Amino acid sequence: MTQAFDAATLAADYWSTSIIDIHPGSINVRGFPIQELIGAVSFPQMIWLMLRGELPDKAQASLFEAALVASVDHGPHAPSIAISRMATSCGLPLNGAMASAINALDDVHGGAGQQAVELYDSIVALGDAGVASGDAIAQGVDAFIETKGKYLPGFGHRFHPVDPRAVKLLALVDASVEQGAISGRYAAVARGIEALLKQRKNKPVPMNIDGATAVIYAELGFAPELARGVFCLSRAVGILSHAWEQRGRNERNKGPMPRQMAYTYTGKPERHLT
Ligand SMILES: CC(C)(COP(=O)(O)OP(=O)(O)OC[C@H]1O[C@@H](n2cnc3c(N)ncnc32)[C@H](O)[C@@H]1OP(=O)(O)O)[C@@H](O)C(=O)NCCC(=O)NCCS
Repeated sequence: MTQAFDAATLAADYWSTSIIDIHPGSINVRGFPIQELIGAVSFPQMIWLMLRGELPDKAQASLFEAALVASVDHGPHAPSIAISRMATSCGLPLNGAMASAINALDDVHGGAGQQAVELYDSIVALGDAGVASGDAIAQGVDAFIETKGKYLPGFGHRFHPVDPRAVKLLALVDASVEQGAISGRYAAVARGIEALLKQRKNKPVPMNIDGATAVIYAELGFAPELARGVFCLSRAVGILSHAWEQRGRNERNKGPMPRQMAYTYTGKPERHLT
């Protein structure tokens, strides 16, 4: 009898969770009956509730939603979108194409927001330790470069001299600061990094979508890993749209370039075994 009780407790605790409580006829998410949430909260509010345990206030929800809207797609040149389309043309179902594409969202493409929040956090911590703002930015940037290399996450773009998404998001951040909804500390740090980069490189290396959404996620209190996680949620929309569009086309087995276009071979010239 005792053994049976222990086994039941062991089984119940095995996947213990604070997120959702399900019983026959009852589904509570973070304590709220699902039927009260349905029709009352938006999808971004639901994401926040799931990840953070509470519902966001109006200002938080609106800034969070803006970041999610901004990063849904960047066209077939973006590796994640290209992968989605190529995978679909090779016969993968939508979920397979989405999984393949989302796997490419790492430090260099799409996932830089995680590293960006870590970088911003390190600079904010230096400020909290009493280092003057300009010095904190330079020290944080140098420490990053020393350990992770010269590319600062969240800055630079292959196509856009200025990323229009970053500009609009930063304007929304400024409006939220004015309303007292967020502190603006992370926005100041990101702008400081941008200015330092411009000065060091002698040319602008402007904040990109990952840098700007990282500002928002950090201002809203998201952990660095979640900055990447929620970016993946947003980009999943574009990935799915492109997979779906590609699925409707009678094209099979598409590679990264039209087959008529050669790539450059850099190996040994033709040679023979004898
Ligand atoms: C996005 C990215 C790959 C585009 O790179 P690119 O435009 O091809 O830039 P290049 O690699 O040709 O670099 C050109 C110059 O700008 C500098 N530069 C570009 N992005 C930089 C960055 N994020 N931090 C510091 N310097 C950067 C390079 O150091 C290089 O300068 P150098 O000639 O003195 O070495 C690059 O900016 C990057 O890796 N950014 C960080 C990751 C990121 O935010 N990714 C999300 C993209 S939306």
